[in-house]
Amino acid sequence: MSAPADGPRPPLFVRACRAEPVERTPIWIMRQAGRYLPEYRAVRERVGFLELCKSPDLAAEVSLQPVRRFGLDACILFSDILLPAEPMGLELRFGPAPVLEPPVRTAQDVARLRPVDVEASLGFVYEAIRLLRRELGGRLPVIGFAAAPFTFAAYLVEGRGSKSFARIRGLLHADPATAHRLLVRVSDVLADHLAAQVRAGAQAVQLFDTWAGWLGQEDFETFALAYANRVLERLAGLGAVPRIYFALGAAHLLPVLRQSRAEVLGVDWRVGLDRASAQLEHRFVLQGNLDPARLLGHPGELVAAARRVLEAGRVAPGHIFNLGHGILPQTPVAQVQRLVEAVQREAVPGTGGAGG
Ligand code: CP3
Repeated sequence: MSAPADGPRPPLFVRACRAEPVERTPIWIMRQAGRYLPEYRAVRERVGFLELCKSPDLAAEVSLQPVRRFGLDACILFSDILLPAEPMGLELRFGPAPVLEPPVRTAQDVARLRPVDVEASLGFVYEAIRLLRRELGGRLPVIGFAAAPFTFAAYLVEGRGSKSFARIRGLLHADPATAHRLLVRVSDVLADHLAAQVRAGAQAVQLFDTWAGWLGQEDFETFALAYANRVLERLAGLGAVPRIYFALGAAHLLPVLRQSRAEVLGVDWRVGLDRASAQLEHRFVLQGNLDPARLLGHPGELVAAARRVLEAGRVAPGHIFNLGHGILPQTPVAQVQRLVEAVQREAVPGTGGAGG
């Protein structure tokens, strides 16, 4: 799994994902490219969100904005989890909240979904990754991503975000055969999409299961984790690319998450990393989990809270510092700078330095 003895050392972030020794804990931030950055807002004044996602040079440029400004340890591709819905036959709009039409609610609707050739329909995503790899060389890893199947299916069925996700949760029990058929279709498209990102050069991948926390343990295992694992298993053959699975609001699901096929599990801020790791029997590298609202608070307390996250993370076999969910649009840029500096200053005890 490790690089040949005479080859270049893998980036800090990749070593942390593999639970290899690191001098300090790497940091990146979910939604690090986005509206809290003035340089992102400047681009968005000229270009719509979907157009931005579909222009490889602009998407690459926006992906690099937070990396250049803060010196983060990984670069996530600028894109959106919902883009694969278009080639499946839905119309997608962002206002900025997403709307998908027509929603997919019956067996006939599922049968009407179009087969997807990801290279032909989502090639702009892979081109953006190739541009990023060219720009970053081997120095900083590029993270590719997709929605996990349950969260993607939830958007297809609801047609938008929801307060209760009653339609998707209802479908699981009113017509489980249709729900499973939908999840199989979606899993295959998302696995193709991630595999193409890895072929284009992504050095790690993350599956976002933003709505899986709505499910109880049994339904989570049957309708969310099983399909997330199906996608992750499809990637197992593509070199040793670390796989990150992030389910939001999943503290009650930790005992089930032990069956994840990911190397790294994202944890939100509702549970401490030390407790999460214990419930996972210390079998996973953890990513997280500072409350994004901490960045809206007092600077001194922000740094103290970040230190507590680092401390709790030492219990796990490896730790990647991140927020517990996406950064809030009203976050002051100076607070992000403060956080990144504070995390990168802290050496892992016993390794002799916070370099690298
Ligand atoms: O992390 C990054 O910097 C990469 C870019 C990224 C975006 N969306 C850009 C975006 C990533 C990784 C996502 C993932 C995503 N998209 C998720 C999973 C993560 C999570 O937050 O739970 C979800 C649920 C979506 C769907 C989505 N896209 C929503 C709900 C919204 C609107 C809500 C909002 O944040 O305003 C979007 C739009 C979106 N995706 C924006 C960005 C920067 C805002 C669009 C704008 O510029 O107006």
